[in-house]
Amino acid sequence: MTQLVHGNSELRLAMNGLGSNICLVPTMGALHDGHAALIHAGKEFVGKDGCVVVSDFVNPKQFGQNEDFEKYPRNIEQDLKVARSAGAHILWAPSVEDVYPGQWPMDIETDPRFEILEGKSRSGHFAAVLEVVTRLFNIVQPNIAVFGEKDFQQLVFISEMAKKREPQIGILAVPTKRDFDGLALSSRNVYLSSDQRNVAHLIPDALKQGVLLASKGANLQEIKDSVKEVISKSNLIEIEYVDILNNELNELIPGIVGRILIAAKLGNTRLIDNMPILLKEES
Ligand code: PAJ
Repeated sequence: MTQLVHGNSELRLAMNGLGSNICLVPTMGALHDGHAALIHAGKEFVGKDGCVVVSDFVNPKQFGQNEDFEKYPRNIEQDLKVARSAGAHILWAPSVEDVYPGQWPMDIETDPRFEILEGKSRSGHFAAVLEVVTRLFNIVQPNIAVFGEKDFQQLVFISEMAKKREPQIGILAVPTKRDFDGLALSSRNVYLSSDQRNVAHLIPDALKQGVLLASKGANLQEIKDSVKEVISKSNLIEIEYVDILNNELNELIPGIVGRILIAAKLGNTRLIDNMPILLKEES
């Protein structure tokens, strides 16, 4: 049975009676099967004596001025259903005051990689994500926290931050859960019109094509061009970036697995996706 709690003290009280191996799954709600996969992975990891807490908090600080904070989908009853069927113990939906008590500032070390990929069009986004995740960690004090590879850049920064600042917390990464046609599940998919939804599979198709070409020895430019070619099959999709980087988001050297990452817009809806990629070493 999943318990829905709001305030921090209510959370503490609910956690008291539960297992000592604590897993946190941070989310912004609008839960779908991708989030459920994180809950399953967390449950398996903490075992019978575990307690899985799903946080459900649309963090205002990580949205830019022209982004979708106001219209971000919110439905706590539906979230409770998803959390319950995935077997979470607690669904915690704090208020802004619970997460940001008073005005005490938090120092977040910046990094030039905060400005690439997602950071290019979302200034301040990653510092805000790291701040809220640190705050959630401080409140819940989990043994492990679960994140999705879907937001690969976010996962890299959170893993690095946890290693440095919260070494007692393990970070568990879960592969991207996809829809029937390969589109990565996302809370923002509900914004797509049916015409847009019908062509959105071109995003994962393009990544797969890039991965295939890489395995055949294509170079970075050829791979990026092939991704653009697949996406151009529909004039409803506009690429914002395609990049191929290593797992620390630096230059990828052939022979080591890295990531191909994409952001694309369908109308006003911005979607991201990524896949592992291996550039062939020259023989
Ligand atoms: P949100 O977008 O709700 O995502 C919560 C977690 O679910 C993230 O770790 C994300 O990578 C993961 N996730 C989303 N879609 C997924 C999919 N299709 N397959 C696997 N995992 C998926 O990411 C955030 O919220 C916020 O930035 C947060 C970390 C909660 C901080 O506010």
